[in-house]
Amino acid sequence: MMEFIKVNDYQAMSERACSIMIETINRIKNPVLGLATGSTPEGLYQKIIEKFNEGKVSFQDVTTFNLDEYVGLDREDVNSYYRYMKEKLFNHVDIKLERVHLPNGAAADLEAECQRYEKQIRQAGKIDLQILGMGINGHIGFNEPGTPFSSRTHVVELEASTREANSRFFPTLDDVPTQALTMGIATIMESKEILLLVSGEQKAEAIARLTDGDISEDFPASILRNHPNVTVIVDEGAMVLA
Ligand code: GLP
Repeated sequence: MMEFIKVNDYQAMSERACSIMIETINRIKNPVLGLATGSTPEGLYQKIIEKFNEGKVSFQDVTTFNLDEYVGLDREDVNSYYRYMKEKLFNHVDIKLERVHLPNGAAADLEAECQRYEKQIRQAGKIDLQILGMGINGHIGFNEPGTPFSSRTHVVELEASTREANSRFFPTLDDVPTQALTMGIATIMESKEILLLVSGEQKAEAIARLTDGDISEDFPASILRNHPNVTVIVDEGAMVLA
């Protein structure tokens, strides 16, 4: 079931997501969180840090798995998702870094790395709450249109539109990696609960397709309609066409 929570703006989306994430962490013993990168969850992570500083949440017992990582970037590269997570969240809360997991995009054997990551997720049990953003083409994680719904953690070739959208973080478009490692769609769908965050007019068409379009591999996020527990927090900007 997909439940929509409509909010005014990005701040309200971030606050709502923050409450849900904290409620999950405080309710579950040894919670396992699935985390996302991109611009969308930045506000959520800021709010979480505020709540941590107020003593409202602790990450002592939290395990995390990120959705994806660029291929070819070292863990400490300014543009790696590992670095993003450290700077936007992990450095500011009491999480134990040994409980933090991201695929290693600098691994020599990428196929083996995908299998290792998938196994690590399985060993941790199910992801209790997976935070998701959505690309303008409906990608989740880095699962581009056409990715089989049955996919597990795998290597992907990034679409030109995705590289362009993410080039704002890099010096030039040529610096954006052409490949990434991502949890597969089947991996994401195994999470017990999914929280999809969508903000801004550039996502309006994607929201319209998510609500009205077919469930099809051409639009990866559409599979979420088959998940038993998905909450979509969407702001007015992203709702202009819906
Ligand atoms: C990126 C990430 C995704 C993210 C999406 C949307 O490429 N790999 O995990 O959800 O694209 O990004 P943004 O939130 O910046 O719009």
